[in-house]
Amino acid sequence: MPKITYIDAAGNSRIVEAVIGSTVMEVAVHNSIPGILAECGGACACATCHVYIEEEWVDIVGPPEPMEEDMLDFALDVRSNSRLSCQIRVREELDGLVVQTPLKQA
Ligand code: FES
Repeated sequence: MPKITYIDAAGNSRIVEAVIGSTVMEVAVHNSIPGILAECGGACACATCHVYIEEEWVDIVGPPEPMEEDMLDFALDVRSNSRLSCQIRVREELDGLVVQTPLKQA
């Protein structure tokens, strides 16, 4: 199973195993990762699953779809490596992915 590292705003990291086909948000919620609220349950309608993708993973993860880009406007402190974690499906190539959770969700 691919492993994903979640780093919180204080720098604490948690490494968890991710089921292929689930989303980076679902993996976080199932593992009680702090900092991801996911209020809409993954419908791309809340922006409270905002994460920053570590630079070396940005190209592998790929860019957001237009609907996600629109929703990212509602997230706080959006950066070029911002993504909504409910829109990232876990696949084999994402083994080792590192994401950071923001200081605050919208
Ligand atoms: Fe609501 Fe991702 S969980 S936009």
